[in-house]
Order: sequence, then C-alpha cells, then structure tokens
Amino acid sequence: MTDKIFLRKKVLAKRDELANKGEKSQIICETVLKSNFFKKAKTVFVFLSFGSEVDTSLILKTCFKQGKKVCVPVCKKDCMMDAVAIQNTSDMTYDNKYGIAEPKDASNVVDKQDIDLIIVPGSVFDYDLNRMGYGKGYYDRYFVGTTAKRVALAFDVQIQNEPILVGEYDVKMHCIVSESQIIGEL
Ligand SMILES: Nc1ncnc2c1ncn2[C@@H]1O[C@H](COP(=O)(O)OP(=O)(O)OP(=O)(O)O)[C@@H](O)[C@H]1O
Ligand SMILES: [Mg+2]
Repeated sequence: MTDKIFLRKKVLAKRDELANKGEKSQIICETVLKSNFFKKAKTVFVFLSFGSEVDTSLILKTCFKQGKKVCVPVCKKDCMMDAVAIQNTSDMTYDNKYGIAEPKDASNVVDKQDIDLIIVPGSVFDYDLNRMGYGKGYYDRYFVGTTAKRVALAFDVQIQNEPILVGEYDVKMHCIVSESQIIGEL
C-alpha cells in the first residue's frame, strides 16, 4: 500500500513538472474526438480537469457543439459519485472539498445506464489497461453497473512499463489515450 502511495506521488510530481501540457492535451482530446466511440456516443461523462491533469475542455466544447448530452462528476458522501448533466461550462462552481469544479445545480443526475462514454482521469496507468486514481475509489465504485466505454486520458509520463498492483475493486480501462499512444481499443 505504501508502495502505491509512493508511486502515485512520484508520477504526479512528474506530471506537475511536464512542459507543454496544453498542446499535449489538445492532441489527446483530438484523438478521442476522431474515434468512432466518441462519434457514436450520445451521452458523455467527462471529468473537469484539476491541477496538472489532461485538459478536457476541447472534449466538453465539442460535445456541446455537436449536441451530445454532457455530464460531469459530483462527489457525494462515502466516496460515491453522480454524473450530473450540464448545459455549458458556466454552470460550474469551484467549491467541492477537493477544489475540483462542480456544477452549481447538482439535481440533474443522469442514470448510469444511459452513459455511452466515460472520460476517466487518473494518476498512474500500465500497458495492461490498469488504472490508479487518487486513492478514494470514486471511479471504481461508479463503474459498477455501467456499460459505458471507459477511456482514460493520460500523459506519457503517467504510463509505466511495470504492472500496477491491482486490488479487488480496481476496474480496468477499455482504452488509455496519451499524446503519443493509444493503449487498447478506441
Ligand atoms: N466497488 C467498490 N466497493 C467497495 N469498495 C471499493 C470499491 N471500489 C473501490 N473501493 C475501495 O476504495 C478504496 C480506494 O480505492 P483505490 O485505491 O482503488 O482508489 P483509486 O482507484 O485510486 O481512486 P478513484 O477511483 O477515486 O480514482 C479502497 O479501499 C478500495 O477497496
Ligand atoms: Mg482503484
């Protein structure tokens, strides 16, 4: 367990230091936008970038432009999360307990069965599509009972050759997209 905490810290420090995150984020988002899964998806659940995460704003903007239904994460108690529908990015506020943007009005909860594509954040990934998040299990809990495609966005520095130690609740991704690689099927 301490190994995992150490690994997460090390990789996130590297991500914080990474240059040209804006350009790299754009490449990552464009890869997703070109995919059949994105084109087919009617309802997209997408994270709102925090800190040095891949910037998802191009995906959000494109979803709105193309008339897709957009939902974003809202943290609840017991490390549970809702997908809440939003109409535009000005619906956001910044007051969740982790400092992550959330919608002002969290009442429009979307049924997880109705979501086609989940754009997933994370800290560390491996080539076997395993994911480490931020250590609370929000996403692992959310994935239970979904049929949506799980596409994680990461910079290359977050993808490691050594396999990640997985726990019983860790859910694999269908695909990981970085600025230079697509792991799995997009
Ligand atoms: N479906 C679940 N049911 C019960 N406990 C769970 C479930 N998913 C995760 N957990 C528990 O939540 C805790 C955090 O999980 P883990 O370390 O995998 O977080 P993570 O994947 O890094 O976080 P996140 O999913 O929020 O990005 C662990 O104790 C794990 O056992
Ligand atoms: Mg996990």
